[in-house]
Amino acid sequence: MSLLEVRGVSHRFPDGRTALREVSLSIESGELLLIAGPNGSGKTVLMKHLNGLLAPTSGVVLLEGRPLADCLAEARRRVGLIFQDADAQIVGQTVREDVAFGPENLRLSEEEVRRRADAAMSAVGLLGLADQAPHRLSGGEKRRLAVAGVLAMEPSVVIFDEPFAALDYPGIRQVLREILRLHGGGHTVVVITHEIEKVLAHATRMAIMSAGTIARVGTAAELIDVVESYGIRRPRLDARGIRGITWLT
Ligand SMILES: Nc1ncnc2c1ncn2[C@@H]1O[C@H](COP(=O)(O)OP(=O)(O)O)[C@@H](O)[C@H]1O
Ligand SMILES: [Mg+2]
Repeated sequence: MSLLEVRGVSHRFPDGRTALREVSLSIESGELLLIAGPNGSGKTVLMKHLNGLLAPTSGVVLLEGRPLADCLAEARRRVGLIFQDADAQIVGQTVREDVAFGPENLRLSEEEVRRRADAAMSAVGLLGLADQAPHRLSGGEKRRLAVAGVLAMEPSVVIFDEPFAALDYPGIRQVLREILRLHGGGHTVVVITHEIEKVLAHATRMAIMSAGTIARVGTAAELIDVVESYGIRRPRLDARGIRGITWLT
């Protein structure tokens, strides 16, 4: 059974815009799935369906076979979303408060909240900045803070929306390392980006969105030659092929 399954999902906004059209996609436990597509193709709207932030107009999303509508609280906890705008996700006055916010709402004991916050800060290397005001962090650190807030919920899958947007080169490398560390540690990871050269070499599978549909699903090797036709820049390959497209040397 898939960890998450999107089955025939369409989404139409109240203003009449249709953002998703009959989208079907499975997310398997342990994979690192890259979802690519140009601006406006429906990537963010799809992501918001994966933990029930948005409900389909038609179709269904299943978490381990159960409709999200029947396990919404569990879906919110187990499917962690890291939004593009890291600033908008900050809720605490300090790094520690911010990371503890989610677990505090799970009615856990004070010790358990503290244990989870410490573990999450430590996992992303922010323990040393626990008492820092979040707005003073760098762009890369803010994104790692968002990751820590999600990790403190002990999720099964972590989904990143445009994680490299507006980061400098060290920030991109920091966040990429974080993504690979999560995946290496057994998390299921989904990376949504049109900058596919950042993660292509590390993805187990890739889906291409186009005008509200999933146009293609396959391996990087299968799809690299068609990405340009979907409005995604094709990375240049050297003699090493896809493996050689790396931001981590
Ligand atoms: N709240 C909304 N109301 C109406 N249309 C929306 C809303 N949010 C997104 N859309 C539309 O849905 C489509 C897909 O948007 P989005 O998923 O954000 O694209 P992407 O993340 O791929 O750039 C776009 O045409 C966008 O304008
Ligand atoms: Mg988007």
